[in-house]
Amino acid sequence: MIEKINRLKEEVASAVATTPEAVEELRIKYLSKKGAVSALMADFRNVPAESKKEIGQKINELKAFVTERINGFKEQLSAGCDDEAALIDLTRSSTPYPVGSRHPLSIVKDDIIRIFAGMGFTIAEGPEIEDDWHVFSSLNFPADHPARDMQDTFFISRTPVDVLLRTHTSSVQTRVMEKTQPPIRIVCPGRVYRNEAISARAHCFFHQVEGLYIDKNVSFADLKQVLLSFAKEMFGPDTKIRLRPSYFPFTEPSAEMDISCDLCGGKGCAFCKGTGWVEILGCGMVDPNVLKSCGIDPEVYSGYAFGMGVERITNLKYRVKDLRMFSENDVRFLAEFESAR
Ligand code: PHE
Repeated sequence: MIEKINRLKEEVASAVATTPEAVEELRIKYLSKKGAVSALMADFRNVPAESKKEIGQKINELKAFVTERINGFKEQLSAGCDDEAALIDLTRSSTPYPVGSRHPLSIVKDDIIRIFAGMGFTIAEGPEIEDDWHVFSSLNFPADHPARDMQDTFFISRTPVDVLLRTHTSSVQTRVMEKTQPPIRIVCPGRVYRNEAISARAHCFFHQVEGLYIDKNVSFADLKQVLLSFAKEMFGPDTKIRLRPSYFPFTEPSAEMDISCDLCGGKGCAFCKGTGWVEILGCGMVDPNVLKSCGIDPEVYSGYAFGMGVERITNLKYRVKDLRMFSENDVRFLAEFESAR
């Protein structure tokens, strides 16, 4: 019986039907009441009980195969006909469009925000096209002071006031301080622009998250603890931090923060240039002049600020060697990150 089933299967596999009549003929020959498959079903009654399961299964398979072949021929025929409606197969699954992934900079920016949100910071945003006051003057950069050269600026117009692309999101901090009395606890994410030659290590635009906390009795110790908690959550619980004295016009004292190099565990390697430390952000206590120029009394309030580059943090997390890859929109590169989390 098994032999007979196999023979029938081969027969059907090699059969061809190119006209509706031929297809009908095939159907009658195999699937009708007097067809070959029905005949097998009739013989099935005489199959010994112990083989019933195996043979029953084979007959079912054959029946499914024949039905599929005949439907295939029918489909081919209707595809060739000029009745448009017959060409649309509503049961076919749709084209599998690949799902997009989040940009690595968005992933890291959201991580940074999530960590600070957990410590009570809210998000503040502001314009990318700014005036001199919000980017420089209010932040204690006197006119013609060499500190302005620290951030090469794209100017849009110079009269009647300087209009420019913001070089840091500290401008958002100014805008919030002008409008709000402390306590203020914000992070300012956003894109910033600097007039730099584009290379693997520098770009004319990048992204920052800056932070500001102003209240009564805020001290440098508060700043250090918040940054330590951030570093541990971002880079792992064994991460150490160190603060090196630095200079920013808007903070006094100012510092740059390094974290222990997680590639070599602080022993020193090519990535950290043998030092065991990598720089991740700038910070300090908000200069009383800045508070004054924004209408906050420095005799009553004090605060700290910090600012970090999202590209820098992303490089440290994912070791992207060339900054330009972040803005080339190569989907093969972009698709690598969602799964890297
Ligand atoms: N605004 C600084 C920069 O863009 C970073 C910074 C912010 C430093 C706040 C200290 C305090 O380089």
